[in-house]
Amino acid sequence: MAVNKIAIVGCGPGALACVTGEARDAIARADVLVGTEHLLKLFPESHAARIVVHGSVDAAVRAVIAHRDAAVAVLVTGDPGIASIARGVVAHFGPESCRLIPGISSIQVAFARLGLDWMDARIVSAHNATPSFDYSDLARESKIAVLSGSANAGAWAAGLADYLGTRWRLYVAQDLTLESECVREVSVTDLRDGGFSARSVLILVRSEQK
Ligand SMILES: C[S@@+](CC[C@H](N)C(=O)[O-])C[C@H]1O[C@@H](n2cnc3c(N)ncnc32)[C@H](O)[C@@H]1O
Repeated sequence: MAVNKIAIVGCGPGALACVTGEARDAIARADVLVGTEHLLKLFPESHAARIVVHGSVDAAVRAVIAHRDAAVAVLVTGDPGIASIARGVVAHFGPESCRLIPGISSIQVAFARLGLDWMDARIVSAHNATPSFDYSDLARESKIAVLSGSANAGAWAAGLADYLGTRWRLYVAQDLTLESECVREVSVTDLRDGGFSARSVLILVRSEQK
């Protein structure tokens, strides 16, 4: 019997309006949905079995293995290609066993809200842990997008902003596409204080860019 490919579905930053038609089709065809509670709640009309996993590759892999003869869709936030459990799931099962469905990334939305292109942006993840590389590695960039999420993400980004100097503008793009969305320019102190939700992208732009 042919085994179904595992659909790894990018579901956008949170609002149903940002879930693509291709993603909706894959979810409608699935017998089993695997994802966070928040993502699963986006699709109340689906009759698929639901398995809650909290951003853990191992838990997602176990859930897929347990239903390998069914049509399984693993739901991920934003796009599967950016700081997602998709990487670990594909590494486990192999790309030939997976079908990646792109989604709208929080990074895309953040830059769109600022009216900036992001061709030259460096994406840094401080989602699970603060980055381990030196600030000097980023000194030549003109735009930096930091996926926050870890407790120290704001402090780390504030340290980066201090290192880069005053010619940079700093923004917090919080709860994008959700009712509570808020995109604002901030100071280094604001970043350090971390008064923004875990669901935020921190954007640093060399001021000539704006
Ligand atoms: C595990 S990463 C996933 C990124 C995702 N693959 C993407 O393309 O947006 C989670 C991080 O994405 C960002 N994020 C996800 N949803 C967001 C939203 N609605 N608004 C702002 N940032 C968001 C936050 O930085 C969060 O810590």
